[in-house]
Amino acid sequence: MNPAYEARTQEYRAFIEDYLANWYARMHTQPQKPLFDAVEYSLLAGGKRLRPIMAFEFCRMCGGDWKQAAPFAAAIEMVHTYSLIHDDLPCMDNDDFRRGRPTNHKVYGEAMAVLAGDALLTDAFAAASSARLPRPEDMATAIGVLSECAGSLGMVGGQVLDILSEERVLSEQEVIDIQTRKTGALIRAACVLGVIAAGGSEAQTAAAAQFADALGMAFQIRDDMLDVIGTQAEMGKGVGADQGKNTFVRLYGLEACGQWVRKYTDIALNRLDTFPDSEYMRDLSQSLTTRRT
Ligand code: IPE
Ligand code: IPE
Ligand code: MG
Ligand code: MG
Ligand code: MG
Repeated sequence: MNPAYEARTQEYRAFIEDYLANWYARMHTQPQKPLFDAVEYSLLAGGKRLRPIMAFEFCRMCGGDWKQAAPFAAAIEMVHTYSLIHDDLPCMDNDDFRRGRPTNHKVYGEAMAVLAGDALLTDAFAAASSARLPRPEDMATAIGVLSECAGSLGMVGGQVLDILSEERVLSEQEVIDIQTRKTGALIRAACVLGVIAAGGSEAQTAAAAQFADALGMAFQIRDDMLDVIGTQAEMGKGVGADQGKNTFVRLYGLEACGQWVRKYTDIALNRLDTFPDSEYMRDLSQSLTTRRT
């Protein structure tokens, strides 16, 4: 990858790491400090920060100062981290390893892991509402996007369909319907909120959403592939756990999954034509097709 790409990625990552660390650091003197320990254990454990990067970059591509998107970027990463903590619980996927460490409930117990997730979800809306927007009246739209993508019609809805499907083999459309909610929705929120942070146009919002929907498909198909071909050391989470689940690998087979990842990535790239300076986002999208982490 070219040096400019690497430099921008590092800049975005460093900024969101600081922002997230500071968000909770100022609360450390509160008596509920053990909650912040549990929250920070998962939040500051070094995820890829893909969703914040997308929010920053869509803001920049729409002519905004990308740092203005930080409250939205942080909010989405907080919701995403909460979804991972709850996804790993014994009553859900029952996983032992996440972001290179034992899962939250393994260290802090199930009650505190549930509460850490609850706190991250709720605090995310405080973070989002602290954004300063070029059109302040867009805040209501932004909060609506975040809650819809996270909630019953979005990520939570997808997790529900995922659980309900465990006993039977799903059709292609059913697998896609789960994916677009459980993984796709938060990626969509990241891209759309990036546009809103810049005060972008309706056409840009629509293109960002369409880009995100296609890229989200590619991302989850690759996630399902990596459960088979990845290693715990690379992924930072347990692998081989999805056997018997309704993954894209079960649906299409491993080899065809590789082709679908490329196909959906191509669809996503076409949606970037609306944005004059999309080289970084194109490089990022391409890099995800062969990711190992
Ligand atoms: C993992 O997301 C869960 C899915 C939605 C597939 P990421 O692969 O983005 O996880 P982190 O944030 O890097 O840990
Ligand atoms: C869950 O998908 C995505 C969410 C957490 C909403 P998975 O269950 O496939 O995610 P991983 O593989 O555990 O990260
Ligand atoms: Mg799951
Ligand atoms: Mg899981
Ligand atoms: Mg998975």
